[in-house]
Amino acid sequence: MKRMLLVLSFSIISFTATAQIDYGNDIQPIFTSNCNSCHSAGQNSFNSSSYSAVMASTSPSSTYDSKHVIPNNAQGSPLVDKIEESPEFGDRMPQGGQLSTDEIDKIKQWINEGAHEEVQTSNEIESDYPDKFELLGNYPNPFNPSTVVQFRSPVSTEFRITVYNANGQQVNSLTGRTVIGENDFTVNLSDQPSGVYFYRIRATSNVSNSFIGSGKMTLIK
Ligand code: HEC
Repeated sequence: MKRMLLVLSFSIISFTATAQIDYGNDIQPIFTSNCNSCHSAGQNSFNSSSYSAVMASTSPSSTYDSKHVIPNNAQGSPLVDKIEESPEFGDRMPQGGQLSTDEIDKIKQWINEGAHEEVQTSNEIESDYPDKFELLGNYPNPFNPSTVVQFRSPVSTEFRITVYNANGQQVNSLTGRTVIGENDFTVNLSDQPSGVYFYRIRATSNVSNSFIGSGKMTLIK
């Protein structure tokens, strides 16, 4: 019942269009001027020469072990990790320099919009704005030592993720503020032993406390 309250009270939020990122105009030029000198033909484990090359590029490093771009998940994409401060693996890119905050934000927005080559039509955009909370799960799973929990939110609100071990003891808890649309939050269990863990996510506001979802995650060390 409480969940209904929160969802209904916010369902009148109107759709506001934000400028979308266009790969050809906004992203490829960043790669061409800052990355192609070392990555134009796939050398050094990344290929920045074109849209299809970037999307096909896969990390050989066991730290990432995935495609460099994970659509809708900027924070989980190795490409973003490499251009931000202190990457999990190797040097910050571009090697010997760094992109501007504006360029980094554009790349993240492009990925979170789905990492498309073409700007999406308004019908497609609208479906990106959810009308209810929806838990998408966590990635990767199994994981070590951190995993990204993803959910969609119709509102910007406080939330809490609580993680329990198989005995039902709370081992981790994380609070934050959601954005409208897709949300990604990293849960790190580096101080816990291997095993199955459960998590619950709640949206909280001063009028209600609503359940978003729960899931199971496996830590393998
Ligand atoms: C001066 C050369 C140079 C430039 C310019 C450069 N890189 Fe790199 N890049 C490297 C080298 C060397 C490696 C391998 C070592 C490492 O990962 O630190 C690498 C590795 C990478 C990886 C792969 C990591 C992996 O193993 O999965 C990515 C992704 C990457 N760079 C992205 C970029 C992006 C994006 C740019 C432009 C913003 C860029 N690089 C600019 C030299 C460069």
